[in-house]
Order: sequence, then C-alpha cells, then structure tokens
Amino acid sequence: MASRGQWIRLLLVVVVAIFSSVSVFSASSSAVDDNDAQRGSFLQLRYNYGEVVMDNGIVQVTLSSPGGGVIGISYNGMDNLLERRNRITNRGYFDLVWNSAGDRTGIYDNVQGTRMRIVQQTEDVLELSFTREWSDGWFEGMAPLNVDRRYVMLRNTSGFYTYVIVDREEGLPAFNLGSARVAFKLNMRNFQYMAVSDTRRRIMPTAMDRNRGEKLGYPEAVLLTNPYNRDLTGEVDDKYQYSVESQNDKVHGWISQNPSIGFWMITPSYEFRTGGPMKQDLTSHVGPTTLGAFISDHYGGREVSTKFQDGESWKKVFGPVMIYVNSAPSSDINAYDNLWEDAKRQMEEEVQKWPYDFIQSEDYPGSSQRGTVSGQLNVRDRYVSADDFGAKLAYVGLALPGEAGSWEKETKGYQFWTRADENGHFVIKNVRPGLYNLYAWVPGFLGDYKYEGDIVIGSGSEINLSTLVFTPPRQGPTLWEIGIPDRSAAEFYVPEPNPMYINKVLLNSYEDRFRQYGLWERYADIYGVEDPVYTVGVSNYSTDWFYAHVTRKIDDSTYSPTTRLINFELDQLDYMGMYTLQGALAASTGAQLIFQVNDNNPYRPRLATRAGGTDNAIARHGIHGLYRLFSVQVPGYLLRQGSNTIYVTQPRAIGPYEGLMYDYIRLEGPSSVV
Ligand SMILES: *[C@@H]1O[C@H](CO)[C@@H](O)[C@H](O)[C@H]1NC(C)=O
Ligand SMILES: *[C@@H]1O[C@H](CO)[C@@H](O)[C@H](O)[C@H]1NC(C)=O
Ligand SMILES: *[C@@H]1O[C@H](CO)[C@@H](O)[C@H](O)[C@H]1NC(C)=O
Repeated sequence: MASRGQWIRLLLVVVVAIFSSVSVFSASSSAVDDNDAQRGSFLQLRYNYGEVVMDNGIVQVTLSSPGGGVIGISYNGMDNLLERRNRITNRGYFDLVWNSAGDRTGIYDNVQGTRMRIVQQTEDVLELSFTREWSDGWFEGMAPLNVDRRYVMLRNTSGFYTYVIVDREEGLPAFNLGSARVAFKLNMRNFQYMAVSDTRRRIMPTAMDRNRGEKLGYPEAVLLTNPYNRDLTGEVDDKYQYSVESQNDKVHGWISQNPSIGFWMITPSYEFRTGGPMKQDLTSHVGPTTLGAFISDHYGGREVSTKFQDGESWKKVFGPVMIYVNSAPSSDINAYDNLWEDAKRQMEEEVQKWPYDFIQSEDYPGSSQRGTVSGQLNVRDRYVSADDFGAKLAYVGLALPGEAGSWEKETKGYQFWTRADENGHFVIKNVRPGLYNLYAWVPGFLGDYKYEGDIVIGSGSEINLSTLVFTPPRQGPTLWEIGIPDRSAAEFYVPEPNPMYINKVLLNSYEDRFRQYGLWERYADIYGVEDPVYTVGVSNYSTDWFYAHVTRKIDDSTYSPTTRLINFELDQLDYMGMYTLQGALAASTGAQLIFQVNDNNPYRPRLATRAGGTDNAIARHGIHGLYRLFSVQVPGYLLRQGSNTIYVTQPRAIGPYEGLMYDYIRLEGPSSVV
C-alpha cells in the first residue's frame, strides 16, 4: 500500500504534468528587460517547468505551479532565504490540521493547488492564485474545503503578500479544523537570530541542538545539553515560550548575520484570527520557522476548535499578511537592532495601509466598503461609585452574534477590536459588511458586556451607538479581594525559575517571567508539604498567591491535589444573609474549583464550580487560557463573626499539568452589610 507521502508525490506528478503545460502556453509574461527589473520599475512573471517566478527587481519569489508553495525567495544576493534541502512542499506552505467529526485523530493536509491563474497583472501589481477544489477529487488527507491561495507582489516593495480564501460550498462533509496557518522554513545555515518582541530577541539554538538535547516534561521543551553554539549550553528551548497574543502579534521573524538579512511576518490586522485580542499563538521558533497562524486551538483547547456540520457552508479570507525582507550593510555592527527596528517601522506602515487597496478579491472589501462603529461605554457599579463612569481602556469589539463573552471561542467569523480611551469613548474602524454583536470587557472589572441588539454593517456604514452601560456582576459590597480582574494571572506570584531550566532571553523583562519552563514544579519546591495561607490584610497577592493552582508531585507517577487557605476577619456577620465568592479563572485544564468554609472535612459542604477545560496554559507558559467567571453563594451560617478560613481546593491530580489560574477572587457581603 502506498504511504500518504507517496500518494502526494504521485498526485503532484500527475497534476504538474496536466497543468504546467496549460499554464505555460496560455499565460503571457510581461516583456521587461532585466535592467528595468533590477531598478524595481516593473513586475515580471516568469515560467519554468513546474514553477513560476514573481520578480519586482528587489525580491524574486519562486512558487511551485500549480501547487502554489513558496520554494525560493531570492533577495540581496542570497539565492534562497528558504531551506533548499527541504522538499518543495516544506519551505513556504499553507497547511491544515483537521479531523473527521467524531474522530480526534488529527489529519495533516499540506495544501497543494491543482490550478494556477493570474488574477491581475499591471505595472504595479501582480497577483496569482493557486486553487484546490474539493470537486477535483478527494485524496488522502484532503480537508473538505476549497482553498484559493493568493500571492501579491507590488512594484518597488521589499517583499510580497499572501492570503488564503477558504470556502466550503454546500454539501461538504462535517469536519473539525484544529489549525490553519502559513509557515516558512528558513535557510538553517544563515538564520540564527530570532525576534518576536522587543524583549524576546536572541541567537537561537538549531533543530539539531534540540535533537541532541534532553527532552523535558513534553517533547516541545528541550534542555540544550550539547548545542553547537556552546553559549547556549544548559538553556531550555520551547516554541511556546515565544507565543504572543493576537493584539501584539504584528511582526516577528529571523535575521541572518552574514549577509545581514531579515525575514519578517507582518500581520497588520487580526480581523481574520479566531478568539479575539487575547488569543495567544505561536510565532517564530527553532527550525528556523516563521508562522502566520490563522486558526489554532492553542491556549483554548477543544472549546475553540472550529467545527462544521454536514453541509455547512463557510467562507473566510485569512490575511493578507506581508512577508517583508530587509538588509543591512555587512559593516553595520548593530544590524540585529537596526533590522528589527526597520521591520517594526514597516509593520506600522502596513497597519496604516490596512485594508489594502491592491487586493483583487470580491471577498476582501476595501476601505470604502467597510464601516465604522463608535460610542461610549460606561460602567455602572453602585458599590464603586454613585454615578456611572467611563470604561477606561475597555476592549470593545464586534464578532459574530452570540452570548456575552462568546467571541473568545468564536472561530468562524471576523472580529474587529479596539481599545476605548480614558473615558470609554471608542471607534471601531474598517469593519467588513456583515451582522455582528458588540462585546466589551473592562480591565479592572469582572465580566463581559454585550450590546443588546444586532449591529448590521453595510458598505460605508457609520454607526454611533452613543452611551452604553455595562453593569459588572456583583451581589453586594466587597469584603476583600485578591488580584486584579484583568483576565490574566500575571499580577500574582510568579516564582523564579529552577536554575536548571532557564531560557535567558526571558530574563530581559519582568513581563516575560511567566514564560519560563517548569514554574509549576516550583510550587512544591517552595511550599513543601504545607500549602500557602493567604491572610487578608497581611498577605500581598504579588508575593503570596502562587500564580497557578497546580498539583504536587509525590513521585514520578503520583500527584496530589493542593488546597490553599484564605484567612479573614468578619467584624459583623449576617447569619441569615447570602455572601458571594465572585471571581474569574484565567485558565483551566482538567480542573475543578472547590471552596469550603471553616471546615475542610470532605463531608462538609463543598461549594464547587466546574471548570474542566483543555487550554493547557500551565504547560504552554501562557499566563491565561480561556476566561471563566464564577459566582459561588456562601450562606451566612457557614461563616463566623471574627476569624474565618476558606479552603480552596483543586481536586484533580492525574499529572503535573492539571490546574487552573486565577484572574481574581472577591468576597461580597449581603447588601445588608453595607
Ligand atoms: C521605491 O520605494 C522607496 C522606499 O519605499 C522610495 O524611497 C522610492 O522613491 C520608490 N521608488 C520608486 C521608483 O517608486
Ligand atoms: C457619537 O454621538 C455622540 C452624541 O450622541 C457624540 O458626542 C460623539 O462625538 C459621536 N461620536 C462620533 C465618533 O461621531
Ligand atoms: C506587594 O508586593 C509588591 C511586590 O513586592 C510590591 O510592589 C507592592 O507594593 C506590595 N503591595 C502592598 C500593598 O504592600
């Protein structure tokens, strides 16, 4: 029986044989001489057997045809920025991981086109399309989707753009889409320096160094025991340490030292990404690999996988993203800094240009067809202020209609987010026509806002919603609180990493400290057998509230649940009143949350909240996964006037990674206690 690889190769051979001849004879390339091309004045399209080359005199991009993979990028004297030793389907590709409904086994689909066509070819723009349609005939691994992969090259531009239109016509079978992304595998010899943010930039280990290293708790995390570059000995490498939230994931990539060349993935808008502004995903990592992630279940798990029913139709445009290349003279001793700064400058330029006016697809509306939604969001919390007040720096966004907060798990539509100003005024620009709900959350306040009523954006719509009011969840006055309601556990106690397991680049910034490997094991190192006691009024959540509620390792195959104590005083007690533990989790993996009041005997009342979850944020060094509000009623008769203790237990302990992260907890009194 032929393996999948053999099938794909066979298919490629057949497809190339059928279509390359068609392309060669039916299309014309612009007649431009090489001198003009070198000055960057004209765009050229050249055909080779099984390949097409897009050339603007600055960069030459070779695409397999009709497969539509990037097989070569030639720039500034470097013949190929991509790894030429990789197979041509493994250099610059669009891939999917999917599974049939009811089956969890992931199927890998490295999408190969079966047809190539020229979409536009003018003096200024060259756009090519490589399509694969379901009706072309199923082959092993093929997801039930039509795919149109586009490449756009502009005159006098140091790079190119790519976007992908995926389309499920009616009648395709049910399936789940776990991942959709573009990936580039760079030349291993040259690209050694990686940058994903101002603080996470460094000389990286190689794929070989990882192979020779020691696998840690899971295969992605490796201790570099014998790296080629001795300076890296003893450091940990894990691609999840380079994750970024969508709102900040606008530029990342790699730099070659000699010659000094940068390769950058620029994502000017995350309107096509799933899960909203805080969704985290991979960026660049050892390979050297650079990703443009469109759909993934990272940091969300099964709750964010994209599920399609039998026959369900769908269409979405992923991108465009820009592949930007830059270079520095060999004499530039600050080339790493300068190329990174220049990449950020180019990113700002692309953000300004968004939405692009040079894209020729009816599925990608230009700026005149897009709408604007504005308004002012106020917060109403009578226990904070007698008057409504502006929702300072609120996140306000449009996403497919759903419940309040549903945008976090929404994976099929487009999302458009902005931050309100100090007074809660917001303007959401460049919204594609469609039907939306308006959602918001406000840093410093629990809960989710949703505007009652649909928002319909037409071509050029300008909608002013005027004043909106968000009433965060609350039953009574605050008796005490732990943390800041901001959907992250970053303000809590994040321990120093085990000196054996450091990634030095994460020492550059306090903000990155939660990304170190193995912090979950530090809990048992620090607390031994005694769980921490948090005393309201004495303890400080920055130093005394461990950022994740994790299990404790007993031996290599046994873990035990852990319980933390919150001690507090109540000067007066409303014995008949109802108190409330109001709060939110920032992450949860296979976890449950149990509160017991003044007695942790297992037979005493357990006030539980089911968390579950597969966001895996603890193991992936995220400081949050999915957001989960909880509200647990505490009858006054369980409490005492004077000293009280609440026992907080996460009872599931199969391994090291079950657990949860807190966003915030507060105890509210009955309204009578005011
Ligand atoms: C090409 O682009 C550069 C930098 O963006 C600009 O300075 C230059 O004027 C452009 N040249 C042409 C011929 O458009
Ligand atoms: C929206 O309307 C309010 C008055 O209702 C006005 O103060 C505000 O400036 C308007 N916003 C925009 C962006 O037009
Ligand atoms: C809590 O600890 C942090 C970190 O040490 C410190 O900056 C902060 O001032 C402390 N807060 C209080 C209320 O003492």
